[in-house]
Amino acid sequence: MAEKSKRSQFVTRTGVIAATVGSAVGLGNIWRFPYEAGMNGGGAFLLIYVICVFAVGVPVMLAEFVLGRGTHRGGAGAIAAISGKRFFKSVPIIGILASVLILSFYSVVAGWILEYLYWSVTQLFDPQVVDDYSARFGGFVANPVRTVGWTVLFLVLNFLVIVRGVEKGIERMSNILMPLLFLILVMFCVNSLMMPGAAEGLDFLFNPDFTKLSPSMVIDAMGQAFFSLSLGMTCLLTYASYFNDETPLLKSAVTVSVLDTLVAVLAGVVIFPAVFTYGMTPEAGSKLVFEILPAMFVQMPGGAVWAIFFFVLLFFAAITSTISMCEIPTAFFIENCKMKRRGAAAVVIGGLLVLSTLCALSFGPLSGVTMYGKTIFDLFDYVSSNILLPIGGIIVSIFVGWVVDRKFLNHQLSINNRCPQWLLTLLRIAMRWLAPACIIVIFIYGLM
Ligand code: TRP
Repeated sequence: MAEKSKRSQFVTRTGVIAATVGSAVGLGNIWRFPYEAGMNGGGAFLLIYVICVFAVGVPVMLAEFVLGRGTHRGGAGAIAAISGKRFFKSVPIIGILASVLILSFYSVVAGWILEYLYWSVTQLFDPQVVDDYSARFGGFVANPVRTVGWTVLFLVLNFLVIVRGVEKGIERMSNILMPLLFLILVMFCVNSLMMPGAAEGLDFLFNPDFTKLSPSMVIDAMGQAFFSLSLGMTCLLTYASYFNDETPLLKSAVTVSVLDTLVAVLAGVVIFPAVFTYGMTPEAGSKLVFEILPAMFVQMPGGAVWAIFFFVLLFFAAITSTISMCEIPTAFFIENCKMKRRGAAAVVIGGLLVLSTLCALSFGPLSGVTMYGKTIFDLFDYVSSNILLPIGGIIVSIFVGWVVDRKFLNHQLSINNRCPQWLLTLLRIAMRWLAPACIIVIFIYGLM
């Protein structure tokens, strides 16, 4: 295990949590969660979402942590270190496919953030400038040069960060910026709670209307849980391979899941009161947050400055997440094609330039190109989050529950975590049965 000693590790325990939260907290929480909740009826979606996070997300995250930290290897290496069975080798392939699809549309949304940052800097969110922000957003996304331009810029920035290596940059950035993002969201919450539509917004988000329960909603909630917690593509497995031998895995998994969910709920508390205050509709889809936020900034005292702050932080939340995803295909090329880091990163980012251009154009010239009624952007999103990630999750959790040696599992779970026997048994049952069964039941229900 020469690799083990060479592998750099996160130095502090908060560094572990901060870097993992940095991967988990991103556009998934602030853009995707409000839009999915809005499309799926609010409270009922939130309830199913939270159930998915704790019944499925935490066990799958633990499974990824155990494999990564236990073997000190990332992706394919971790699985191969334990079993040579072909079936399990599919996990890294699913991971690569899912990461490429997600990165393709994620970079487009990150590009929208850059445009909004540009708007904030150029004073467009000044109350003096009265504008129809819905029309403005519509005009922007339909403009191929602008959307593709920002997306390309975002991908190039990713390239620059990846060639310098994961550990240092990410750890340092997330340590400072994620707490700031959290603070600014809390302030925006206070602002939203004082709006006339606050009661209606909170009622929408927290009061479940069970008539909204449907197969497609349950699939969306599960997909959102995987997406938001960064699960199912061996991303956190790779992070865990950098954990040191004292990191308490259960505590870390629960902390990361709770913080990630908290950020999503805060985003909901910011958005929905504003939706009802400005007479907009929660079902707006992927544009929801981008239409609401400008309206909100315009009415806030010093809104233009808040906007700049917020979009800068959101940009960093996005790039810490995309860097964590880029690592999956990049590591694959380095390990399997004997490429240097720079070359591998160039291949990955080069491929993404093509795919994300297709996604960016889905709102303009390619908006007529659809499959199953979905544009390229929506299709990439649906297939990766709702299908590939949960399948990756089932396999990892079955692998750790059934194939990995029980002593190895218990040892990994017990380090620095006072785990009584009943808890160890419970966790193993969660990985063996609960998480896979929930995913399969949701799939079957969703197909109905
Ligand atoms: N969780 C991130 C977000 O909410 C996105 C992300 C980063 C991700 N790494 C991942 C999603 C790995 C799935 C798998 O924005």
